[in-house]
Amino acid sequence: MFKTMQELKENCLQCTKCELCKTRTNVVFGVGIENADVMFIGEGPGEQEDLRAEPFVGRAGQLLDKMLFAVDLERGKNIYIANMVKCRPPKNRDPLPQEQDMCIEWLKNQVAIIRPKVIVCLGRIASARLIKQDIKITKEHGTFFEKNGFLLMPMLHPAAILRDPRKKPEALEDFFKLREKLKEL
Ligand code: URA
Ligand code: SF4
Repeated sequence: MFKTMQELKENCLQCTKCELCKTRTNVVFGVGIENADVMFIGEGPGEQEDLRAEPFVGRAGQLLDKMLFAVDLERGKNIYIANMVKCRPPKNRDPLPQEQDMCIEWLKNQVAIIRPKVIVCLGRIASARLIKQDIKITKEHGTFFEKNGFLLMPMLHPAAILRDPRKKPEALEDFFKLREKLKEL
């Protein structure tokens, strides 16, 4: 176990536990506030994230930031954002189960330090791994699940909203549900 986020990050930046270390430019550790009430977990870094060493800074990230802003959430202010795998999968393919297995220890340590009240899983990869294997995102997004003392909510991945902008209203609705839940906690 690591005592501080800084110590955890220093170790993670050296990680060579899976093959993704060979093709990365940067380890994309995570960004945000260490005592955040809510943590957002995506899939893995894309091209921009790999280059800039920060999660969700490409087009999907810009959309995510806008939706967060609508409910007074911001990465520099009151949330933490990370991914299931910290290194970019080549050509943005899905991270393999064994890569996720190797990487999840970093995420578990991040969660242990932050102790968020709510964990939002962005998209199928994070939701399947952290909530339940057979999750149906299109049907179950925006609902809360309780697991190991945490509340988890699957959301549509912002990249999926970019591909089909008609999904935007239902995606935003989930952010409003999240805001209401955070008020209760
Ligand atoms: N998509 C993700 O899942 N994570 C990122 O950091 C960027 C895009
Ligand atoms: Fe290590 Fe995770 Fe990067 Fe694989 S993806 S090398 S486990 S930090």
